[in-house]
Amino acid sequence: MTGEYRYQQLESWLLQGIVEQRWRLGERLPSIRTLCREQKLSKATVQHALQRLEAQGLIEARPKAGYFVALQPDGVKQPVSRARIEAPRPVNVSDLLLDIMGRSAAFDLLPDLHSGDLPPGIVTLNRSIGRALRRQKGEDYQYYDEPAGFHGLREQLALHHGRRGWTVSPDELCITSGCQHALFLALMASCERGDVVAVESPGFYGVLQLLEQLGLRVVEVPTSLETGMDMDALEEVLERWKVRACIVSPSFATPGGALMPEDGKKRLLALAERHDLAVIEDDIYADTALGRAPDPLKALDVDHRVILCSSFSKCLSRDIRLGWISGARWHDRILHLKLVTQLASSRYLQQGVADYMADGSLSSHLRRQRHELRANRDKLIASLQLWPVEVRVSTPRGGLAVWVELPEHVDTLSSYLPALQAGVIITPGPLFSVSGQFGNCLRISYAHPWSASRTEALGRLPELLLG
Ligand SMILES: Cc1ncc(COP(=O)(O)O)c(C=O)c1O
Repeated sequence: MTGEYRYQQLESWLLQGIVEQRWRLGERLPSIRTLCREQKLSKATVQHALQRLEAQGLIEARPKAGYFVALQPDGVKQPVSRARIEAPRPVNVSDLLLDIMGRSAAFDLLPDLHSGDLPPGIVTLNRSIGRALRRQKGEDYQYYDEPAGFHGLREQLALHHGRRGWTVSPDELCITSGCQHALFLALMASCERGDVVAVESPGFYGVLQLLEQLGLRVVEVPTSLETGMDMDALEEVLERWKVRACIVSPSFATPGGALMPEDGKKRLLALAERHDLAVIEDDIYADTALGRAPDPLKALDVDHRVILCSSFSKCLSRDIRLGWISGARWHDRILHLKLVTQLASSRYLQQGVADYMADGSLSSHLRRQRHELRANRDKLIASLQLWPVEVRVSTPRGGLAVWVELPEHVDTLSSYLPALQAGVIITPGPLFSVSGQFGNCLRISYAHPWSASRTEALGRLPELLLG
């Protein structure tokens, strides 16, 4: 063991064991007691080393079970392809891509998988919403709710964000119809037709559709699958072109689940201030974190230029169509636009969700879900390692999908229709960019329960993609 202090020696020894796969992804490390005995160290020293590895996202503490390997730095080959920087351009989403987007909204390999029991967290949610509906008074159905949304829900959201290091008042939040609506309001409030917006590449295709509809031009910024948007590349882009806004997901970017480190966030805010940009933070995946949910970029926003957009779609239910936005200096304009585009949100739905949060049900749902997501992610990555060609795959610490990179000759877009005819929906890489890049890549979700039909669909993929 090397290193100055004993906790550092233990940390390096454990790290080496993880890299050499003495303990593989998802496996349990020796208990604290065993480490104390075998390494002749105090409990405090062992705990210190474990906490440091946990802070790096390499291991995860599971209550009453111990520490488990959460990331295998060299065990799984990480994707390497990188976007090119190209001049800003209008967005033109093709019909084929629209078709794929429509179907991939189901976020699965299987078009018709609607079986299975509801998870306990959703059963409780539905009960809560049902109770709120039964409480509805006569006048409720005759009036719209206030445009900002139900105060009780905004209070719960403020408390929820407070636990992630961001102090926000309910008055700084506005309820929306999902995160897509929040992103739409953010772009409408901060940009004008013809403006240039910087996006992650590969990145979320729903944003590209919004830019197209709003007549905004896009510039794609190369994005790492581990650390998110590349700040050197963003700086180059901002020096070459006038950019009005930048859309980022620091907490688990689409499609590969990248997590932006603190220094990346600070640099982004400094660049935003220097070039006077609006930063639109898509925070929708934060609560799918496999460990503690990261603090949002918004928590560092002293200059009031980060618009945070989020929703319950990824962590709870896509069907309730409830999201929220914190509009910083654009808050009043966003409230006005909410009124114009939606008038109001459903009051009983908001009350039901607020009750669900207040009685702690959301927190227990997230805790349970975290373990399922981790198990699904590990199974998916392990099964991809068995493919007959070299497969590079992201190892996300949050989000709901992995990004898979296949050998260069593979064309995932042209496999889309044959795969669809064979009953399997794939989400090809070119969907995540406007410039036709990432032809040999695809996104695969681990959001759904691991079932025999999923395993079967996954098993057919190599043949469908590789011929
Ligand atoms: C990164 C990202 N942002 C926003 C959305 C839209 O979310 P919502 O369903 O809340 O409108 C999605 C949905 O796929 C997404 O993946």
